[in-house]
Amino acid sequence: MCGIIGYVGKQQALPILLQGLRDLEYRGYDSAGVAVLNDGRINRVREVGKVEKLEKKIEGKNLPGRVGVAHTRWATHGGVTEFNAHPHVVAGKLAIVHNGIIENYRELKERLVMRGVKFESETDTEVLAQLIYENYDGDLTEAVIKSLLKVRGTYGILVMHADHPDRLVAARLGSPLCIGMSDLEQFVASDITAFTPYTRMVQFLKDGEVATIEQSGFKIVNLKNEAVEKNVMQIDWGKESAQKGGFEHFMLKEIFDQPIVFEDALRGRMDMKEGTAKIGGLNMTEEQMRSVNRVMIIAEGTARYAGLVGKYAFERLANLPTEVDFSSEFRYRDPVVDKSTLVLLLSQSGETADTLMALREAKRKGAIVRGIVNVVGSTIAREAGAGTYIHAGAELAVASTKAYTNMIAVLLLYALQFGRLKHTSLATGQRILQSLLEIPEKMNEILKQNDEIKNVAKQYKKYRNILFMGRGVNYPVALEGALKLKEISYIHCEGFAGGEMKHGPLALVSKDVPVVAILTKNQLYEKMKNSIAEVRARGARTLIIATEQDTEASEVADDIIYVPKTMELLEPLLNTIPLQLFAYHIAVALERDVDRPRNLAKSVTVE
Ligand code: G6P
Repeated sequence: MCGIIGYVGKQQALPILLQGLRDLEYRGYDSAGVAVLNDGRINRVREVGKVEKLEKKIEGKNLPGRVGVAHTRWATHGGVTEFNAHPHVVAGKLAIVHNGIIENYRELKERLVMRGVKFESETDTEVLAQLIYENYDGDLTEAVIKSLLKVRGTYGILVMHADHPDRLVAARLGSPLCIGMSDLEQFVASDITAFTPYTRMVQFLKDGEVATIEQSGFKIVNLKNEAVEKNVMQIDWGKESAQKGGFEHFMLKEIFDQPIVFEDALRGRMDMKEGTAKIGGLNMTEEQMRSVNRVMIIAEGTARYAGLVGKYAFERLANLPTEVDFSSEFRYRDPVVDKSTLVLLLSQSGETADTLMALREAKRKGAIVRGIVNVVGSTIAREAGAGTYIHAGAELAVASTKAYTNMIAVLLLYALQFGRLKHTSLATGQRILQSLLEIPEKMNEILKQNDEIKNVAKQYKKYRNILFMGRGVNYPVALEGALKLKEISYIHCEGFAGGEMKHGPLALVSKDVPVVAILTKNQLYEKMKNSIAEVRARGARTLIIATEQDTEASEVADDIIYVPKTMELLEPLLNTIPLQLFAYHIAVALERDVDRPRNLAKSVTVE
């Protein structure tokens, strides 16, 4: 969602801010803007649409200055207009950019209007800007704190004032912000991607913290204006992982990254001799692990589908009842958790608002909470206190691909580590580890079929509805395949469990509604094959994902993609990849904005 970048230092701010905005584009947005402070004046330019349009608008304008703020907006309050775009500027003196939602903005606005304040936008952000401006009495940090104490809601804000040409004030509550430190220059952004070309030294702000940032450094206080200790860390994501590396889209690059980053998820976490995993971040004694009697996996979107695969692993390997839920449902129901429940929060970004709230709820109720997260230093990773990074590297396409496979890898390791304390045998444990090691090579075999998959995909772009069917561990694969395709092609897709077909989806089947089915060689093979035969008998075109050398699968297939054989529990790691490529190529053929699909955001930081 919205992106923030700010700069204070020795260089001209504008090029750094514009590059930062381009690096934040992947988050999803609908307008963009920049403000630079020079000679006691704030110069601002905003534009609806892409950053490219903003850059065109700026061309030929003189916007010097060594301090500035910029923003990509994803509309929540107020339509997509230039007036509603950030930065919001008050009286040419104060500029603010804001991510999040100020919930009590109406009442605050009414009071300001009564005092004669005039508003130029419909946004909640401008209310905050006016409030800070009104509270300003020479000390910007104090004015920000005073104003934030009146606010209800979530925010990551960055404020600049004409009286302080060398200063930015940042604050966060529920919306991420981090400071990138360098010699005589500082960067502030909603995520590290915006400043990794310049520095890897990062300070993540915590909720309730306010930072005053100057060229030579920064200081942090809480909302009581008491100093807070700094905790600067070095991050190791290189700029290279945030570039397309010769691929046309980030999504394609990230699909092709999978064999490489999969090894990063396993590295140092396997104990072949004992046939088990050794996950440092699990941070539990054997006794504590044995006391766990239930697992809950909580996540949104693709992460939840990875979680559904985890359920099969925990139940089969560790004999632990496992429930998977949407974070957005978990946080508002009355989840039954206690000190024997292991609650795993899965999140690529580590910032999904509902997953963060679910984490807090689970903690409050005394559960054992662990985060399984990609982005290092993200809020969920920090608040969970313990857990595991999936090491997928920067994932920038909105549609998640490599984070999904790496989440499954980590969940399999968790389940194995628990399982080996219970009934999973040494031989099974070793077989799983060996099979995991073989996955990257097998992924490569699938990726080599990219051209064939592209040819198949082209033939499906004409359909308005496509169904995805799978059973057992491949049920989540069907759900993920449908999600991938709908997200980026805007074709209506649904995934369902093969056994459910006769209970509804079959009514939709016709020659205009093809069915993509996963029919790999496992215990449910025959049942799946029968279900596919039934949809085919009703005129549906079928695209089948089948196991190499399975000569019978073609009997029920109009189109077929073969994948290498692996252990049943590991099948989703392979079977999802052709579906990712299938979705990608359809979206390209339909000329969609593959990396930034309409209305969607990479990191959903508001409820
Ligand atoms: C959004 C993204 C999805 C992602 C989901 C959960 O919907 O577009 O790709 O799966 O959020 O995000 P998380 O960062 O928590 O994994």
